[in-house]
Amino acid sequence: MSHEFHRLRVAEVKRETPDAVSVRFELPEALRETFAFRAGQHLTFRREIGGEEVRRNYSVCVAPSEGLLKIGVKKIAGGAFSSWVNDELKAGDELDVMAPHGSFCWNFDAGARCEYLGFAGGSGITPVLSLMKTALAMEPHSRFTLFYGNRNSIGVMFLDEIADLKDRYLDRLSVFHFLEDEEEEIDLFNGRLDRAKVDELLTSLVKPANVDAFFICGPGPMMDAAEEALLARGVEKSRILIERFTTGPLSEAQAAAARALEQKAAGLKMSVTLNGRRMNVSFDPAQHSILDNVRAAGLPAPFACKGGVCATCRAKVIAGEVSMKVNYGLSEQEIADGYVLTCQATPLTDGVVLTYDT
Ligand code: FES
Repeated sequence: MSHEFHRLRVAEVKRETPDAVSVRFELPEALRETFAFRAGQHLTFRREIGGEEVRRNYSVCVAPSEGLLKIGVKKIAGGAFSSWVNDELKAGDELDVMAPHGSFCWNFDAGARCEYLGFAGGSGITPVLSLMKTALAMEPHSRFTLFYGNRNSIGVMFLDEIADLKDRYLDRLSVFHFLEDEEEEIDLFNGRLDRAKVDELLTSLVKPANVDAFFICGPGPMMDAAEEALLARGVEKSRILIERFTTGPLSEAQAAAARALEQKAAGLKMSVTLNGRRMNVSFDPAQHSILDNVRAAGLPAPFACKGGVCATCRAKVIAGEVSMKVNYGLSEQEIADGYVLTCQATPLTDGVVLTYDT
């Protein structure tokens, strides 16, 4: 994929809830191919805020067949980028955006007869909505069930759109809302999507064995609960797709082990290719990761979260060995194919050869 940023003009900013907006972009003909996306993918944005370059990923919330490019942004307490988007961004403004990427995707097929189950929490609905719309539009014989958790009804993103989809796909879409701070008549729908709740749902509402793919995106504890409950029921990992946007910090022991490994890697030589340009870089532990070493050496290697979740910094190791502190962004297949998250990577051997051009 191309790691270049393109300048896109905002066509519309629409308030979805008191603390979330959707943003639709104008797509000039010349950029249509660059911004063609798969359902579930996200965009990386770049902006200078307070003299610092800030990058953030936001998922596309529409289906590719809609011919639009639109994201959903929820305002996070203390979040510079999300606050700016919610409070200041308006139609006509321009933003630097990288081409769509990400692997929270499924190979939909018009002839398929599949059952899908989405677990979404809060703004985690955005990629799940894209996948849900795509499954229903592209696969006329497939069904989708959505479990959607929120604090209260006023904060539910895309509530009307989801209700319209339910009307349109009466027999093939089931939606269940779960509210933490409001009491529903049926107790099952009260409270958060924690492990006990997910276990209850997987016993009473949906049989995991009948489901072809599970799409999970939301707060960390909700995603962990859903994943653990599915794995405990013997669901293969290949059927569980998870999209994370943030992670917690490393434990003290993990951080100490990472620092020790970085010290050990001091001076190891790497050969790095980006946009056809090859450069020799020597690992400096003060920069902590291969990504930051490569950038410090002058190659504009791509990144967004720097937390091991978005995979924007993905590169392929051609020779030598590297170790990753955490990996929430690569599939088992990608790891088997030699990909690493360079924001999390430290070289283990001298002469590592890696390329961002894949
Ligand atoms: S920058 Fe997001 S995983 Fe490395």
